[in-house]
Amino acid sequence: MQTELKRTALPSPYPEGWYFVESRKAIEQAGLMQKTWMGEQVVAWCDEDGRICVAESVCPHLGSELGPAAGGRVCEGRLVCPFHGFEFDATGQCVATPFAAPPRSARLRVFETQEIAGLIFAWSGIEGRPSQWSVPDEAVDQEGWSDLRVQTLRFPGHPQETTENSVDIAHLRYVHGYDNVDRTHPVEVEGTLLVSRWDFRTVRKIAGIARLTLDFSAHARIFGLGYSFVQVRERSIPMEMRLWVLATPVDGTLIDMSLASQVKVGPRPKRFVAGAGFLPHGLRAGVINRFIGPMQKMDVLQDVVIWSRKQYRPRPRLNRADGEIMMFRDYCTQFYPAPTGAADPLPELDRAVRHPDAELRLPESPAVEDAPVVVE
Ligand code: FES
Ligand SMILES: [Fe+2]
Repeated sequence: MQTELKRTALPSPYPEGWYFVESRKAIEQAGLMQKTWMGEQVVAWCDEDGRICVAESVCPHLGSELGPAAGGRVCEGRLVCPFHGFEFDATGQCVATPFAAPPRSARLRVFETQEIAGLIFAWSGIEGRPSQWSVPDEAVDQEGWSDLRVQTLRFPGHPQETTENSVDIAHLRYVHGYDNVDRTHPVEVEGTLLVSRWDFRTVRKIAGIARLTLDFSAHARIFGLGYSFVQVRERSIPMEMRLWVLATPVDGTLIDMSLASQVKVGPRPKRFVAGAGFLPHGLRAGVINRFIGPMQKMDVLQDVVIWSRKQYRPRPRLNRADGEIMMFRDYCTQFYPAPTGAADPLPELDRAVRHPDAELRLPESPAVEDAPVVVE
């Protein structure tokens, strides 16, 4: 009940955009997978030419469920419905039935997909409208990079709330205990892209004994509320990391947060890398990625404690250390387009305070309960 109340303060639990479905590897291993994604049951499979299909898990014939639990299966790259055996190719078209010619109008409702470094994303448009923009395929270079590791956490939350942390510099120090947190560039917004860059230092204990100080520069590129791509450079070892932070609404209350990471290590580490020093260079990146995965998860779990219990405050009382929270919220408004014929999803007052200069333009009527954004 409490989580439902929390959600009502944001315009929708399903902002428009690209959202993670699964990795190609996981889809191929499952053969046919089904999940609740953006409030819908979807299936995903891969055909024999490597084409991935993400589709609504409902048969257009007589409405059977298509997932494995109902008896759906993939045969020679086609999804076969468990009820009367209609077969669908990776475009969603029905191409065969056991007893008669396939009806031409029998098509699955499929979602547009994009693949980045083996991660499969699908577009969720308001009222089912087609994609309005795409996520950039900017991480295709795999030379020297470790395999991708994906781990997923599920908790009550909203993708706008979790993504907001990438501009919330103050929490990096307070929640995660990072030192020397420094915003190196102003936050930039260009259409659906938001860029946030900062430096920080963290000290980690290895095997509970050795202390390892890591100096990081982080460069986060955010394309909508389901896709954050953070490039992290460690200056003293040196090594580079790619971290995708992928928040995907499940059912209007829960979100799946998938962390996908890759590591690349410089040819001659400037200093000892715990546990990896004896390894041939080619294996180091993979070992370090395995070692870093649990650290990333621990950091995110520190956020989950807050996210899963917090309430959305449309008019937060901010101070000058908070960074660009309201600028971020202004950026977010584009992901809640008004449905056809509907009123603007944001109340008038919210739009006023979400202006980038909100702190300079307080709404004129402080009599409205909870009115101004206060910067102290
Ligand atoms: S309901 Fe799917 S084939 Fe009949
Ligand atoms: Fe965080």
